Amino acid sequence: MGRRALPLLPLLLALLAPGAALPAPSASRALHRMRGPSSLAARHAVDKKFSTHYFPQKIDHFGFNLGKTFKQRYLISAKHWKKDGGSILFYTGNEGDIIWFCNNTGFMWDVAEELKAMLVFAEHRYYGESLPFGADSFKDPKHLNFLTSEQALADFAELIKHLRKAIPGTRNQPVIAIGGSYGGMLAAWFRMKYPHMVVGALAASAPIWQFEDMVPCDGFMNIVTTDFRKSGPNCSDSIRKSWDVINHYGSTGTGLNWLSDNLRLCSPLKTPQDLQHLKEWMTETWINLAMVDYPYESDFLQPLPAWPIKEVCQHLKNPNVSDSQLIHGVFQALNVYYNYTGQAKCLNTSETATGNLGSQGWGYQACTEMVMPFCSNGVHDMFEPHTWDLKSYSDECFKQWHVRPRPHWIRTLYGGKNISSHTNIIFSNGDLDPWSGGGVTKDISDTLVAIVIPEGAHHLDLRSNNAFDPLTVLLARSLEVKYMQQWITDFYNSLAKQD
Ligand SMILES: *[C@@H]1O[C@H](CO)[C@@H](O)[C@H](O)[C@H]1NC(C)=O
Ligand SMILES: *[C@@H]1O[C@H](CO)[C@@H](O)[C@H](O)[C@H]1NC(C)=O
Ligand SMILES: *[C@@H]1O[C@H](CO)[C@@H](O)[C@H](O)[C@H]1NC(C)=O
Ligand SMILES: *[C@@H]1O[C@H](CO)[C@@H](O)[C@H](O)[C@H]1NC(C)=O
Ligand SMILES: *[C@@H]1O[C@H](CO)[C@@H](O)[C@H](O)[C@H]1NC(C)=O
Ligand SMILES: *[C@@H]1O[C@H](CO)[C@@H](O)[C@H](O)[C@H]1NC(C)=O
Repeated sequence: MGRRALPLLPLLLALLAPGAALPAPSASRALHRMRGPSSLAARHAVDKKFSTHYFPQKIDHFGFNLGKTFKQRYLISAKHWKKDGGSILFYTGNEGDIIWFCNNTGFMWDVAEELKAMLVFAEHRYYGESLPFGADSFKDPKHLNFLTSEQALADFAELIKHLRKAIPGTRNQPVIAIGGSYGGMLAAWFRMKYPHMVVGALAASAPIWQFEDMVPCDGFMNIVTTDFRKSGPNCSDSIRKSWDVINHYGSTGTGLNWLSDNLRLCSPLKTPQDLQHLKEWMTETWINLAMVDYPYESDFLQPLPAWPIKEVCQHLKNPNVSDSQLIHGVFQALNVYYNYTGQAKCLNTSETATGNLGSQGWGYQACTEMVMPFCSNGVHDMFEPHTWDLKSYSDECFKQWHVRPRPHWIRTLYGGKNISSHTNIIFSNGDLDPWSGGGVTKDISDTLVAIVIPEGAHHLDLRSNNAFDPLTVLLARSLEVKYMQQWITDFYNSLAKQD
């Protein structure tokens, strides 16, 4: 799916106003000095030790005909948990292996002691090991019928109910939902649908409005472009120009060979479809870079240097060079993303990111509930023009999964922009993150609050503390903790009143 139109965009695989400033080095540098270099090592030492458990979940929470269950995986760390006055931080797993999310959500580990919190990471059905029909889960549309956000939220509710029963001391403790990206959407929606289960939610980089008629379809690609434009002179212009050059080479057999050799592709380009696929792979690469444009060396979607887009732009400084020079620059830019470790023998256009994400599952979700319109015009953004065409999108979905998307359903289900009757949700977004275009970036009420991180890429706030964190993300995290503490205090105060 998606490949034919715009690339399929796994969320993680993913805010700020497009005018956002890039790194404010002075403030953050001052902070590094304050903390000193030793803090980096110390932070990395936070030991992520957890136990792994499985809970039998009904495959279908909403019908009574299918009695079957599957084993949902979840992880627990109780190192800092206190029976007295403690809390439970519950990660609402998204489209991938839950251990990978656990590894990449250092924020929860960093705040566990302060909140006396038990950490729970719940895997989303149809991802990782939590496969309702085992190896057959993706083989038949009938088996996929239970892959919906509603079923996933119901799994979370049942699991919390189970934990409260099974672990003495948790019964009368507040639970907070936390998630990033699609997991952030789930955290927010969980608080909306099950407010009796969680006292609040932290929804990081959660594009709950990236759906039909809620935000302009070109916002996403505009933000990607802005990131490149601000990361180096002529950088976005060079990429914009590269498409024509690629098309030009792609119009002949010798040109295709030349491209395959010079981009050092694992499988040579042979057909116009291959060329299309190459461009979609590149597009996805530039998008992924925008999501993980973190201020320090990291390994989320790929191992990458600090501020990877700046590195990429070192190779794309001048759009007005010869065609072959421009392609050579593009090759070096791709190498920043695909060969930072120096291990790549060739560039594989079948891969754009970590294998920990479940692209099959997300492909299906994008074809059913998660219909996110994207478009580009090649003028305000650096991509080839592309209109959003629901009809062809739907046809692709039908071909692949035998289902047709329901673009309005998420809005019916979760309220679209009309969510002001809910309470206690923090929406955090980074201005560098293309998904921020579909996120909540302004307060909706006193308790539905937006936190914007000007120098943040995709849920930077959920990552571990790092000596190179910009000041803005430190502030965001401390505000998030403040809100969570307030919810916990309110919970215990209202318990006391009931007694
Ligand atoms: C999680 O982190 C551990 C420890 O660094 C590592 O061994 C493991 O491979 C990681 N797992 C995933 C799925 O990221
Ligand atoms: C940007 O491209 C122009 C036109 O080729 C070139 O003159 C200029 O030097 C480039 N800027 C940088 C910073 O390389
Ligand atoms: C590159 O050349 C084109 C046409 O000659 C010109 O319009 C454009 O401004 C140049 N780009 C830069 C960055 O100088
Ligand atoms: C990756 O980097 C290594 C080390 O610089 C280099 O030898 C190798 O050719 C690169 N691979 C590709 C595909 O460019
Ligand atoms: C390219 O990636 C695909 C998908 O991960 C994999 O199956 C294939 O073996 C890879 N090809 C090469 C040459 O590494
Ligand atoms: C919210 O709902 C009201 C009443 O149903 C409607 O008039 C309004 O247009 C909705 N607002 C948004 C932003 O959807």
